[in-house]
Amino acid sequence: MLKGEYPLERFRDLRTPFYYYDTALLQRTLETVRAALQDRPSWEVHYAVKANRNPVLLRQIAAAGLGADCVSGGEIQAALDAGFAPEGIVYAGVGKADWEIRLGLSKGICRFNVESEAELEVIADMAAEMGLVAPVSFRVNPDIGAHTLSGITTGLAENKFGIYHGSVEPVIRRALQMPSVRFLGLHFHIGSQILDMQDFVMLCNRINGLTEQLERGGIPVEDINVGGGLGIEYGHPNHLPMADFESYFGTFKRHLQGHRPVRFELGRSLIASCGTLISRVLYVKEGLSRRFAILDAGMNDLVRPAMYHAAHRIENLSSDGPEQAYDVVGPICESSDVFGKDVVLNECRRGDFVALRSAGAYGESMASTYNGRPLPGSVFSENPAEE
Ligand code: LLP
Repeated sequence: MLKGEYPLERFRDLRTPFYYYDTALLQRTLETVRAALQDRPSWEVHYAVKANRNPVLLRQIAAAGLGADCVSGGEIQAALDAGFAPEGIVYAGVGKADWEIRLGLSKGICRFNVESEAELEVIADMAAEMGLVAPVSFRVNPDIGAHTLSGITTGLAENKFGIYHGSVEPVIRRALQMPSVRFLGLHFHIGSQILDMQDFVMLCNRINGLTEQLERGGIPVEDINVGGGLGIEYGHPNHLPMADFESYFGTFKRHLQGHRPVRFELGRSLIASCGTLISRVLYVKEGLSRRFAILDAGMNDLVRPAMYHAAHRIENLSSDGPEQAYDVVGPICESSDVFGKDVVLNECRRGDFVALRSAGAYGESMASTYNGRPLPGSVFSENPAEE
């Protein structure tokens, strides 16, 4: 969305900060994904609810026919409430609590992505108690380091996720003996904000090797879940608002062997570009050596810059004044509450609207009430009735 396209008149009476969602862009993104997979009818995309569980967006994504990827009982419930079918819900997480497992079983979700043998035992016992058979895949730790921020790499042997690829076969054999469990497939996820398709090629190679090994050993693998991780161009929200779905899906089409159904768990690539955190300038302060633009949005509203040194593009929507360099900071009592240093913005004055772009993923969903602040609100481009 170009600077001039934000409806500032509509924003004028709203309390800032809030997330502004371009639901038309979300719709175009969902259609692009559908088109990219038209030649693979058995491949399914599950939206990673952790990226953003705003109910308006969840409803839009559910209505487009996607499944949901959940990591907690709360997310399973949010997905069901938004209209996702239980048969489209997959559930991962290294620490599934008893009530969460029972919720998944009783709602009939399509898959538990099991991350340890201990968890398998618990799921099997609970399913037996409830007179059900739990559909399970195993989350495999493929020991592949994706080229991304170190805090969000998940597929290395040293990470807590999944079962090491060299140790998974005996665990599957154990599952095959359990009457209250049905083993169906393998689940992977190597990290997030991945732009180098070579990382996904390595993942495909690992999957091919493992499925071959299992099938040689007499263990059929019905389907594969390759996780999520496709990145977006944070630096170019206007020129490249859409992730490169063609290359991404093309990589799996070219490199994944066999004809099994494939599941994808996309979060960021579906929702990041659609969201902007809108804030106002509270004060401009001249420090000894730096000029600060102090916003009314803080790290409690958008934690990614403080937590991962993530760079979101920042724009002054209200000003065409001469450009100046600012350290853009929030009001929180932490020196890490910085959105960007030496950011070139049109001259800032008190009350100007400032946009933090590409904040639709892991923005609102990671917001907190730290410092006693209210959670940010949400406003939508196309259904103002929801405000
Ligand atoms: N599947 C699994 C098992 C995951 O752990 C994740 C994300 C996804 C799918 C979705 O990945 P995506 O398509 O969004 O890359 N808070 C961090 C990102 C953490 C990602 C956690 N797992 C950030 O703000 O960058």
